[in-house]
Parts: sequence; C-alpha cells; structure tokens
Amino acid sequence: MSKTRIKYICSNCGYESLRWLGKCPECDSWNTFTEELVEVKKERSAAKINRSISAFTINEIPVDEEERIKTNINEFDRVLGGGIIPGSVILLGGDPGIGKSTLAMQAASKINAKVLYVTGEESAKQVKIRAARLKINSANFYVLAETNIESVLPVINEIHPSLVIIDSIQTMERNDLDNSPGTITQIRECTSLLMEEAKKQQFSVMVIGHVTKEGIIAGPKVLEHMVDTVIQFEGETNHSYRILRAQKNRFGSTNEIGIFEMHEDGLSEVKNPSEVFLSSHGSPISGSAITSTVEGTRPILLEVQALVTPSHFGNPQRVATGFDYRRLSILLAVLEKRAKLRLSASNVFLNMAGGVRIFEPAIDLAVCCSIASSLQDQAIDTSTVLIGEIGLGGEVRSVSFIEKRIQEAEKLCFRRIIIPKNNFKELKKNSSIEIISAETLADTLHIIFQN
Ligand code: TYD
Ligand code: MG
Repeated sequence: MSKTRIKYICSNCGYESLRWLGKCPECDSWNTFTEELVEVKKERSAAKINRSISAFTINEIPVDEEERIKTNINEFDRVLGGGIIPGSVILLGGDPGIGKSTLAMQAASKINAKVLYVTGEESAKQVKIRAARLKINSANFYVLAETNIESVLPVINEIHPSLVIIDSIQTMERNDLDNSPGTITQIRECTSLLMEEAKKQQFSVMVIGHVTKEGIIAGPKVLEHMVDTVIQFEGETNHSYRILRAQKNRFGSTNEIGIFEMHEDGLSEVKNPSEVFLSSHGSPISGSAITSTVEGTRPILLEVQALVTPSHFGNPQRVATGFDYRRLSILLAVLEKRAKLRLSASNVFLNMAGGVRIFEPAIDLAVCCSIASSLQDQAIDTSTVLIGEIGLGGEVRSVSFIEKRIQEAEKLCFRRIIIPKNNFKELKKNSSIEIISAETLADTLHIIFQN
C-alpha cells in the first residue's frame, strides 16, 4: 500500500514543498503554490536495474528515417517541423474558445491514418455537431467521450490509432489518484501514463491544454518539460486571425508560425499572410507604416499603426498592442533625444494590424516612423516599406534576412524600401524596387517626410 501526503506544488514550474510558500524558490513566481495529495513512492528496488545493457557509439545507432504523420494542413505541418513524429507527444495550448478543438478536429480528419479523439469536455453528440459544421467526413476518425485515462488505454489497444488527441488534459483523471481532475498531479500523471504507452506502441499523442489568465499552460510548465513539442494557438478573440506558434520542438525549429482564419465552417489556412496584415485602406493615413518582418522562414509584410494625441494629464499614456511595451519606451526616448521630437506630453498608442505580436527589432524603424507620422499628422507614402533596428544612438542597425524581406515587398508591388546602410552594402542582386539606404533615424524621417 502506498501512502499519500499533502504537498504544495508550484503551478508554474512543478517545484514541490512540504509547506505553502508565497514565492517559488525555483522560478521566483508569486502565489503559485497549490495544495495537492501526493503519493509517496516506494523505495526503488535494485531488481529493476538492468545490468546487461551497454552503450553504443553514435555511429552505431541504427536510424530509420522516421516517417512523419502529415496533418495535411500545411500551416500546421510546418509549425510541427514537417508533421508529427510517431511516438511523440505534442502539447497544444491556448485560451479557452480560441479554436483548439476545431484545429485538432480538422487536422484529425485530414490525416491518412486512424485518429482517436478523446473528448472530456463535450459529449460525442456535440462533437458530431461540430464535425458536421466543419464538414468532416472521415472513416479514420474515432471519437471517445471519456474522462478516465485508464479507460482510454484499452480503446487504444483495440483501435491502434496513429494519433490520440486528448481534449483536454484538464478533464482527465487517473483512478489511482485521489486528486480531482485539473490538479497538477492529475495532469502530470495522466500525461506520463499516455507518454509511456505512446513510446511503447509508437502512436503519437496530442494533448490539449487551456492556458491560465497568466498565460502559462495551466497545470502547466511541468508538462512543457515532459512533452516533445509545445505549440500555442493564439489570437485576439475579436479578430478572426489565429496564429499557431511552436514554443518548444525537439524535432524542428521553434521560429515557424502558422496563420489561420476562423470562419463559420472552421479554420482556413492563410497562404499569403502579407495581404492579411496590410490594412485594407488604400489612401495614405498618418500614423501608418509598412514593414517586413520575418517569422521563421517566411517574410510577412505588416502594417504598424500609431496614434499620438496630446495628454491633458501629467502622466501621458503609452499603450502597445502586439509590441513590447519596454521597447516602445526606449524607442520613444530615442525619438525624443535623437530625432528631436517632443513626445513627453503626448499619449502614444501603438498597434500591429491584424492582431499579431511581433518582437523582432527589425520593425523598430517602422514603429518610430509611424509615431513621427502621427505626431506630425503627416502620412507616409503607402508604397514605402521600412526596415531596420534602432540603436540608442538613433542609428539604423542592420537586420537579418534582408533579401527575403526585399523580395516580399517586391512581390507585393511596393515601389520603395528603406533599409539599414550596412545591409545595403551587402546587397548582391538587383531589384525592381527602389532601395534606399538609411544611416540614422533622423535621416530616414528626412527622406520620408522630405523636409
Ligand atoms: P473551439 O475550437 O471550441 O475552442 P477551444 O477548443 O480552444 O476552447 O472554438 C470555439 C470558438 O470558435 C467559438 O467561439 C466558435 C468559433 N467557431 C467558429 O467561428 N467556426 C467554427 O466552425 C467553429 C467550429 C467554431
Ligand atoms: Mg475545446
């Protein structure tokens, strides 16, 4: 008989303590300890130790080219690094209502292999109604409404699916644990049970998890360490665009993003993201600047919007949506000091069109120009693209993948692109687009506003 005891576990990193703590000594987060019943494990027995094993040199280990399971949704496959590796475990996180179940079901219906969709949140009938809405018609798609993970295992043995989807891990429970579903112990133990089976039987698992308000996958970081791949589905609920981002990937890059649009009949892939993120108005408007950002391997043209208004209170407001707030403060200081723009008495609102979040410094120049444009109420020519990182000295610093960014602007028929001087020197190819080199922020403002 194993004994249980109460422990306190940090919901952010899984650190265990015998007493409640306000601040986690491991990850420094506050108020994250929750009370959990923990099973006291038996002493490890020596009989388990396998003495007949030996190590191989790296060259001796046989490699069979792993055949990835394709979801046949390009945007999804690319984020996964080309598809799902058999036996791997993927965590799909995101806010409630963002479209995780929809994405998982659409992917499941397109896979050319058996998929078992275990739903703990909805009944089989509700799943069927959603499937009808998504026009899913697949003979390989099995649905099981169950919350007990141990009851799922025999079904897996019977059907032999290539992929098992658990929607969501917060609703699953193990019989042998007294904790209620959704607690860290349940989430961790259910996942580890599945992982064990997955590695043994070589099926893949996609675990869906809701994100807490703090933005961590509830139940939570402990799972992130366990699984092979963590992908996050995000977007603004009032925008129809959704972005799939890899946060961790043992089998691929974490830079890739997949872009989707939510319609009445489900998610569709956005094949040409630049056209989406460029706002729809055609006439020049002050405060708007176009830049070319690179997400993963793809360049995306994006509109940066700024609104600068006089502040009638002592403390001007600064709001950044989709952009790092601290970076905005730095850029405002640079604009003030190096470009001699008076911003200390103005409210500044910054927004990335389409609801994306961009943390790449290469869009700094566009951010600064959009702010200057709104402050002076002078529009930037709509056929100009601005690229460059801004240094504290007001200099325009070089960025990576310049050729790709230029090509994308060229493809979308922009006429002029302003790039950092050092990038300009390296350019090899001739382009049909006019390329202007910029050395400083002040220079650039001079070029775009011709003053
Ligand atoms: P859902 O996949 O249930 O979200 P999650 O599993 O992440 O909680 O998606 C829910 C939202 O998506 C809901 O607000 C309705 C919307 N939706 C559509 O707009 N079109 C559709 O075809 C479907 C299935 C959902
Ligand atoms: Mg759901």
